[in-house]
Amino acid sequence: MDPTASPSGEGALGCPEDSIRLVETCLQLFTVTDAQLQQIQAALLASMEQALQDPEGPASAVRMLPTYVGSIPHGTEQGDFVVLELGATGASLRVLWVTLTGTEGPRLEPRSQEFVIPQEVMLGPGQQLFDFAARCLCEFLDTLPLCQQPLQLGFSFSFPCHQTGLDKSTLISWTKGFWCSGMEGQDVVQMLRDAIRKQGAYSIDVVAVVNDTVGTMMGGQLGPGPCEVGLVVDTGTNACYMEEARHVAVLDEDRGRVCVSVEWGSFHDAGALGPLLTTFDHVLDHGSLNPGAQRFEKMIGGLYLGELVRLVLAHLTERRALFGGCPSPALLCPGSILLEHLAAMEDPSSGEAGAHVLLQDLGLSTGMVDAKLVQQVGWAVSTRAARLCAAALSAVLARLQRGRELQTLRVAVATGGQVFERLPRFLSVLRETVQLLAPQCEVSFTPSEDGGGRGVAVVTAVAARLAAHRRLLEETLAPFRLGHRELEAVQAQMRGAMSRGLHGEASSLRMLPTYVRATPDGSERGDFLALDLGGTNFRVLLVRVAAQGVRITNQVYSIPEGVTQGSGQQLFDHIVDCIVDFQRKQGLSGQSLPLGFTFSFPCQQLGLDQGILLNWTKGFKASDCEGQDVVKLLREAIHRRQAAKLNVVAIVNDTVGTMMSCGYEDSRCEVGLIVGTGTNACYMEELRNVAAVAGDSGHMCINMEWGAFGDDGSLDALSTSFDASVDQASINPGKQRFEKMISGMYLGEIVRHILLHLTQLGVLFRGQQTQSLQARDIFKTKFLSEIESDSLALRQVRAILEDLGLPLTSDDALMVLEVCQAVSQRAARLCGAGVAAVVEKIRENRGLEELSVSVGVDGTLYKLHPHFSSLVAATVRELAPRCTVTFLQSEDGSGKGAALVTAVACRLAQSTRV
Ligand code: G6P
Ligand code: BGC
Ligand code: BGC
Repeated sequence: MDPTASPSGEGALGCPEDSIRLVETCLQLFTVTDAQLQQIQAALLASMEQALQDPEGPASAVRMLPTYVGSIPHGTEQGDFVVLELGATGASLRVLWVTLTGTEGPRLEPRSQEFVIPQEVMLGPGQQLFDFAARCLCEFLDTLPLCQQPLQLGFSFSFPCHQTGLDKSTLISWTKGFWCSGMEGQDVVQMLRDAIRKQGAYSIDVVAVVNDTVGTMMGGQLGPGPCEVGLVVDTGTNACYMEEARHVAVLDEDRGRVCVSVEWGSFHDAGALGPLLTTFDHVLDHGSLNPGAQRFEKMIGGLYLGELVRLVLAHLTERRALFGGCPSPALLCPGSILLEHLAAMEDPSSGEAGAHVLLQDLGLSTGMVDAKLVQQVGWAVSTRAARLCAAALSAVLARLQRGRELQTLRVAVATGGQVFERLPRFLSVLRETVQLLAPQCEVSFTPSEDGGGRGVAVVTAVAARLAAHRRLLEETLAPFRLGHRELEAVQAQMRGAMSRGLHGEASSLRMLPTYVRATPDGSERGDFLALDLGGTNFRVLLVRVAAQGVRITNQVYSIPEGVTQGSGQQLFDHIVDCIVDFQRKQGLSGQSLPLGFTFSFPCQQLGLDQGILLNWTKGFKASDCEGQDVVKLLREAIHRRQAAKLNVVAIVNDTVGTMMSCGYEDSRCEVGLIVGTGTNACYMEELRNVAAVAGDSGHMCINMEWGAFGDDGSLDALSTSFDASVDQASINPGKQRFEKMISGMYLGEIVRHILLHLTQLGVLFRGQQTQSLQARDIFKTKFLSEIESDSLALRQVRAILEDLGLPLTSDDALMVLEVCQAVSQRAARLCGAGVAAVVEKIRENRGLEELSVSVGVDGTLYKLHPHFSSLVAATVRELAPRCTVTFLQSEDGSGKGAALVTAVACRLAQSTRV
């Protein structure tokens, strides 16, 4: 189609007036009305908002790619950075050495070098392009007086990319004049790293990758408002801006802002843009490397403006409106008119001379009128570009305004790219048009410093700081990550300590006989009272064991901290008061039911109803109890309270109660495990192995009191400074070392100490020590369970942490999650090593190749934590492969087990009486 054909079909022209008319008619095609611009603005805004909500939308829409830049620069960044720019300015690549001096230091000019990329490299295999870039980089560095220090590099890569981290970015598609094979879908950072490594000359860490718009924005200066938009019109065109993170569907973020690269070059709305596309635009598109793509960019980008002018001039020559109808070979050759030619014609007064130069370059014979007309063509093409660019920028401004719900927006737009540098008119047209399209915005335009190089260095500085933080985090958490070897050593040490304990030799494991000789056989019957003291809750229970099963009624009573740490007499009086209250409420007053007492502390038992408290654990500290028979203390309190009708038959550790309770359901249950406030295990040992109890046949349940494992220093190699701090601050320093690495009473405290340390290192909470984190026990172990729950999004994790008054940044929440994971994983793995030692001992005791055994488990940490139980099981499989271990969670607490022990004792007592 001939865009300027007259209705009569007449082709040739005679006089200059005709030429002028024909040129004017042709240039009419490049006019875009204000109404059309408004339409484009609206369509682009709609496309942007759709892409924010649905990133998988149509390819003709803008892409709205989140970058990992979350804040505009503070100006505090410091250090030396290498910046490599690829893809912004056509066929060249730039390397810069940028020194950031923070807010105080003087501004230092960067050093830079530009390299022309050969055409065959731009169109060859991707690997070749990156090898070329790495070579240029080294060539540039060779000119600098560098010592052997590792260098930090920021990579400005100006093509649409999916970014998944500050240093991870996969290419979506090439644009502009690049078409390297095998690259789409590849991580461009990795490609660059590999290429640099191949060069071997320098140690360079590619810390960040950014789009040129981001570098431009980060290198912009403050205007009347913050610089929150980066606008590039270079070979191609694009913009980025700070979007509210909550509006970006692909991000799991509800706070803060994130820089989004609009990638408006791909915008192509049939309704709004379609009518504006001229034949010249279609011809240009067909002849491009990416036909059909980047239609908007092809009307604005510097790579295309000269070519559009050439197509128009060739057409007008063909129509004999110019050059006497004689084209030169150069005029017919694509790519012969460049942006610099347009630049030379820009100035209204000197531009005509520039047009002459161009025409001479093209080998065209010119008259004065021709030069003037050519200049007008140049203006028309660049004016359209500037106005379209203004419409797009106005859409971004409207989006900013809408996202922030502002009446008026004050913002600075950083500009970058050759089109701004070479065509000063472009910016004035742009500014004027933006004023028209976005009258409610106060926009200032500021050229980006050092062509965006400084901005890239700033992002690199931030990325380098984050990477350094990650290294410090990893270093801090490394001692918590126990490998197979370390766990095997723990298992072996535990086995040694078990056997020494059983033989009555010095050992951190006391291996206490419980006088429980058998697990229940199901024939137990009767009504029993039970007490359950030592876990989160103190409970009094009524347990009815009948042929149909066990029925339990229980009530939880609180024990004030003053009582757990007051006098023993006070504690036991309180316990008896609770029993009396319970009896009254249950209508049991006056009845003498046998009572089983779950007492979850280490006791030396001499019989079923005699237990000498060896020491308190888990924050209990009532005086005058250690070294005393707890059953006797209870009986004395009963006497004092004149509650004469209580008959204490058995004292049981919670591990034993749990084992018995689960054993009632599954006869293979021969191990009891608690991971709650404290931790401990018991199991059925061969009586012949128990030195403290006479007899060679049968079994006895042994309360290992494994919480004390390591109190002889055997775990010191695994213990961290955080464990030491928790231990030192506890009421029993040096005691219960294993328990302090595993159980609920301590994990939150370990996490708190790690968080304090990381804050001190500046890794967390911007290095600000907060009052709240100083408070002991503020970080409850239940937070670990909540934070590590898979169903919680990171934003909910943040809500939990914010409730604690911690001043979080978005990276902080993830780090805190990692700290929690490291601490709970170590706990679960250590616990698993302990269980492995126990089941292996049982297997060996019985001379079995394979053992199948069940473990009854209870405790809040084990039950509430989302991953603890599976990690314990996995560790046991890893360390005791010849044992098949089934974990049974106790449903009724160990009070039921205490009642069952009591039932067995009553049955035995009766049968001996008979
Ligand atoms: C059991 C018992 C408690 C025991 C507890 C451990 O079910 O009934 O006496 O001490 O579990 O869990 P906790 O998390 O409460 O310390
Ligand atoms: C690219 C953008 C880039 C722009 C300006 C476009 O072709 O797709 O990523 O920002 O050119 O260089
Ligand atoms: C106690 C054990 C108890 C464990 C679990 C430890 O502190 O010493 O007797 O079994 O906690 O409650």
